[in-house]
Amino acid sequence: MEEDKKDRKNRKDKKEKKNKEDKENKGNNKNKENIIKTGKMKILVTGARGMLGSAVMSYALTDSGVSAVGADIDDFDICDASAAAGFIDKLMPDAVIHCAAFTNVDAAESDSEKAFRVNAMAVRDLAAICAARGIKLAVISTDYVFDGSKESPYGEYDLPSPINVYGMSKYYAERYCGHICSKSFIVRTSWLFGANGGNFVGAILKKAAAEGELSVVNDQFGSPTYTKDLAAFLIELVKTEKYGIYHATNDGYCNWHDFAREILNISGLSSVKLYSVSTENFKRPAARPKNSRLLKTALYCSGFKKLRTWQDALADYINEIGLVPGYNNKQ
Ligand SMILES: NC(=O)c1ccc[n+]([C@@H]2O[C@H](COP(=O)([O-])OP(=O)(O)OC[C@H]3O[C@@H](n4cnc5c(N)ncnc54)[C@H](OP(=O)(O)O)[C@@H]3O)[C@@H](O)[C@H]2O)c1
Repeated sequence: MEEDKKDRKNRKDKKEKKNKEDKENKGNNKNKENIIKTGKMKILVTGARGMLGSAVMSYALTDSGVSAVGADIDDFDICDASAAAGFIDKLMPDAVIHCAAFTNVDAAESDSEKAFRVNAMAVRDLAAICAARGIKLAVISTDYVFDGSKESPYGEYDLPSPINVYGMSKYYAERYCGHICSKSFIVRTSWLFGANGGNFVGAILKKAAAEGELSVVNDQFGSPTYTKDLAAFLIELVKTEKYGIYHATNDGYCNWHDFAREILNISGLSSVKLYSVSTENFKRPAARPKNSRLLKTALYCSGFKKLRTWQDALADYINEIGLVPGYNNKQ
């Protein structure tokens, strides 16, 4: 009798102890979930020294919800799949924003092998690495995937048909990325300007200072895009699971001549002579699409904020960087 009583008490004590432990564990797990949910999203930025990559790195510093690690060719060559996998395995990012690329459009015509290796094959391998590890991947593409023959702006759903090697290599990158990595974003942009890279704004100001007059083509249309604004969009995008193809540029369209005029006006150089020329009279190794205008349907429909006008973005850039022809040029 006494033994039964003892047994019952032991069983009761054990049960109470277990209930207490379960309760405590539940609390700990809850804390763990909170830590994961409130922890910073880790982003790997490739091409981090380049024009867009450096803007993504700078923007990430202003966003308390993310931590970004930048890599460029000194850290690993994106054409070396095992080096890329090794770097990613050490870091285990939640997302990769892939800004590294072979971006010299004219040089790609005479070195198509390099263009395909860097722009397409490397993306194929990166997409496989990210897919195997459940990592989100944002690949930057271009308006040059289109041939420019359409009369109106291109939608995300229009069929690409590139007219130069660079555009073709980026189109292949899009296809690899979309097929291999289900957690992927393909972001087509155009006419980038920003710090840490040679771009049209710097080129116009340098030429204006050196020669006092300029000739710029007036029959190619598109949207200038500030890397700072695109960087902000890319970071917002990779926080979501709204995978797919996006067009992301500053708002509004112009031709290169209009763009040059605005650069000169904002910089107080409106007296510099600016002539219009047609593409016919301005031969370059790679053909350029005449119509590079992109509709931003996916961006709007997915609830993202539209990027400001290219004129506002340009004024901000020239003001921020303090670009003055002939001196203080940080390009
Ligand atoms: N610029 C535009 O107007 C424009 C327009 C539409 C789309 N895009 C796309 O936007 C993205 C960013 O362009 P961006 O103008 O910022 O390019 P960028 O300034 O040329 O930067 C590209 C970066 O990638 C690095 N890189 C090149 N090959 C590499 C390799 N094998 N391994 C590792 N890193 C490598 C470059 O290093 P090095 O400098 O040492 O080569 C550079 O730091 C690209 O995908 C580009 O195709 C650009």
